[in-house]
Amino acid sequence: MRYGYFDDEKREYVITQPDTPLPWINYLGCEEYFGLISNTAGGYSFYRDARLRRLTRYRYNNEPLDEGGRYIYLRDNVSGQFWSPTWQPTRMPLEEYTCRHGMGYTAIRSLNQGIEAQVRYFVPLGESLEVWQLSLTNRRPAPARLSAFSLVEFCLWDAQDDATNYQRNFSTGQVEVVDGVIYHKTEYRERRNHFAYFACSEPLAGFDTQRAAFLGPYRGFDRPRAVEQGQASNSIAYGWAPVGSHAIRLELAPGETRTVVFLLGYHENPVEAKFDPPGSQTINKSTVVPIIRRYLQPEQVEAAFQALRSYWSGLLGRLQVNTPDEHTNRMVNIWNAYQCMITFNMSRSASFFESGIGRGMGFRDSAQDLLGFVHMIPERARQRILDLAATQLESGGAYHQYQPLTKRGNNDVGSNFNDDPLWLVLAVCAYIKETGDEGILQEMVPYDNRPGSETPLYDHLQRSLHYTLERLGPHALPLIGRADWNDCLNLNCFSDTPGQSFQTTTNKDGKVAESVFIGGLFVLAAKEFADMAEHLGQPDEGLPYRQAAASMGATVLSAGWDGDWFLRAYDDFSQPVGSSQNVEGQIFIEPQGVCVMAGLGLEDGRAARALDSVGERLATPHGIMLQQPAYSQYYLHLGEISSYPPGYKENAGIFCHTNPWIMIAEAVVGRGDRAFDYYQRINPSRREAISDVHRCEPYVYAQMIAGRDAPTHGEAKNSWLSGTAAWNYVAITQWILGIQPDYGGLRVTPVLPAGWQGFQARRTWRGVPYEITVERRGPGNTVALAVNGKPVEGNTIPVAEAGQTSVSVHVTIS
Ligand code: BGC
Ligand code: NOJ
Repeated sequence: MRYGYFDDEKREYVITQPDTPLPWINYLGCEEYFGLISNTAGGYSFYRDARLRRLTRYRYNNEPLDEGGRYIYLRDNVSGQFWSPTWQPTRMPLEEYTCRHGMGYTAIRSLNQGIEAQVRYFVPLGESLEVWQLSLTNRRPAPARLSAFSLVEFCLWDAQDDATNYQRNFSTGQVEVVDGVIYHKTEYRERRNHFAYFACSEPLAGFDTQRAAFLGPYRGFDRPRAVEQGQASNSIAYGWAPVGSHAIRLELAPGETRTVVFLLGYHENPVEAKFDPPGSQTINKSTVVPIIRRYLQPEQVEAAFQALRSYWSGLLGRLQVNTPDEHTNRMVNIWNAYQCMITFNMSRSASFFESGIGRGMGFRDSAQDLLGFVHMIPERARQRILDLAATQLESGGAYHQYQPLTKRGNNDVGSNFNDDPLWLVLAVCAYIKETGDEGILQEMVPYDNRPGSETPLYDHLQRSLHYTLERLGPHALPLIGRADWNDCLNLNCFSDTPGQSFQTTTNKDGKVAESVFIGGLFVLAAKEFADMAEHLGQPDEGLPYRQAAASMGATVLSAGWDGDWFLRAYDDFSQPVGSSQNVEGQIFIEPQGVCVMAGLGLEDGRAARALDSVGERLATPHGIMLQQPAYSQYYLHLGEISSYPPGYKENAGIFCHTNPWIMIAEAVVGRGDRAFDYYQRINPSRREAISDVHRCEPYVYAQMIAGRDAPTHGEAKNSWLSGTAAWNYVAITQWILGIQPDYGGLRVTPVLPAGWQGFQARRTWRGVPYEITVERRGPGNTVALAVNGKPVEGNTIPVAEAGQTSVSVHVTIS
């Protein structure tokens, strides 16, 4: 069953009924001002940091779901009936409804009682504000006398405090209303120099800023008293719960359309010029009023919207493909790339499943996300690398997370996730291959953001590798620390106290439990580093890492091989995890993926054997499960992984992040059919047809699909913010389609399904578009290249010569 359809031409997903299984969301904003928006206008906004600079409130885990948003109420002033043109919050039935989620905007259109309403929400580039562009058309044969009410509920900035510290925050709220603009200025009187504003292009019939006055006692957002009575009360919030609501009256002739613009924005004043007049408590509005005036003009709004469209065309235009599979085309050309950009902006902070309070920017998360966005925003990727590296510690370890507002490592979560630093090596190498910017290696970057501690980024990478080598366990495999990529395999935790964090509780000294996964990741990263050093003309610098990779590889193949697959780990008793000797958790997906990606077992067939075991034991029609058999009980020595009921999350869920590792590994061993089969199983567009089972948005990947052991097998959760986005993008574009940036050229090594006759791609790389046509001439994966009509040896298109404006590449595979 479907709840909408893809409009690929417009790059939109069109939702055709408001009561989707879950709120199906989109994101507004690309720079500093962001919002989540659902298909019924739910969601919230924030400036840079979803925890520390939250503009509006949202109620997670509420019933009805998705409460708090960018609401508009329409009221027929003759009949007194009212409704929401975006369905929520009144949930009055609408005669027609569509929500179009596009690239950085959402437009919801409805028809009710002869009134057509369309609201388009977006954030203009370069601004810290969002526009709600409301068009109302009277489709009745008679004039319509209407009222419209807007509504936002302000968050008192710190979302954590806002949701918990009522003894204080019921008494702090403050607003000003001047010239029809509602200013939310809680705490502006003291240490904040920022405020929010909510403006409307129409003259006001009234306003409200105190929630209780707008709603009336014991009423919800679905039936506000002000709307029911058609009359705002001009309330001024003083403590309690500040809201912003404009009331306007409109008379529309038959067929007439009227556009109303609402603006919700964030603004900062210089600390010394906060008040006007100085010494008063009134916000100095001189810097914000020109911005408000500008965006209340419909032409400016339209121009800003067109600029946003071009911005996204530019980003997505860096790689466009035309393959025989529409789901591949749609995901690569539009939604997967878009999701990668959203992970750039959000990391794991704010979604329908991430509250914006709990997690900042993850070190390993951001480093992996980079693989999916680096080709679209190389300059910003560069900065991200430098920000991440600055939260590395002198030991080579890294803070696990940092707050986006301060860019400082988060001490609550701390460090000692022993895989973290290795991802930085992969990210930096990917960045240089994409851009050719070797200069980044010489950037001076501090440790723990401490001035005076700077060393070149190159040294940071070396320390990342040494961090592993200096922490080896009894089998000479890497010690796991708090956890490796699998945050829930907590082998040093041994927590028996309810509520303790599995990630930060450490009851063992950590000198025994080892990770085969980190072993494989180390081999991958050390080889990457050695390749890079060789490319820079410093093979001597690369050599020790090549040797370390070889020796770690040998260790993994001996101590980390179980017979038919790679082991997962050794626990604190030095017993294997992920072995046929175990009763539960016999085989894990992660080491099979990463070890084969690192090239282990390719010569002696063990790579293919491990992948066959994955196919036999872990694969389901909905994707590949993380491990099997699921843990049926809590194991003190394994930690959070066994805390989940079987089939969910890390306990044998289909943890989608890991599936592309298997796709890549299958491509590495040359099995295109299998790689693409796995790709299809979790492709959200392909799963659109089973939206009633999948339940999350069909246009983006979810972190998890319930595994075979769960009663809801096939149901997705945690959509949007997941490394799944970047890795699927890498798997399909760089391994299956096989277009891989390299230091000295663009490598083309497709490993396609047998039934494909070929595909076309347009890839902009280092500023030059490469038009690539791939044609199958035989059943294998052997590549022959012609560049601008001339045959080229090998499989790498050389970097375009200066002055070349496009490169045409013909590839045959046989
Ligand atoms: C989740 C993991 C996540 C971790 C982050 C756990 O509860 O299952 O997927 O990485 O929290 O702290
Ligand atoms: C989600 C986390 O964001 C990521 O860092 C981790 O690797 C996976 N969960 C697996 O536990």
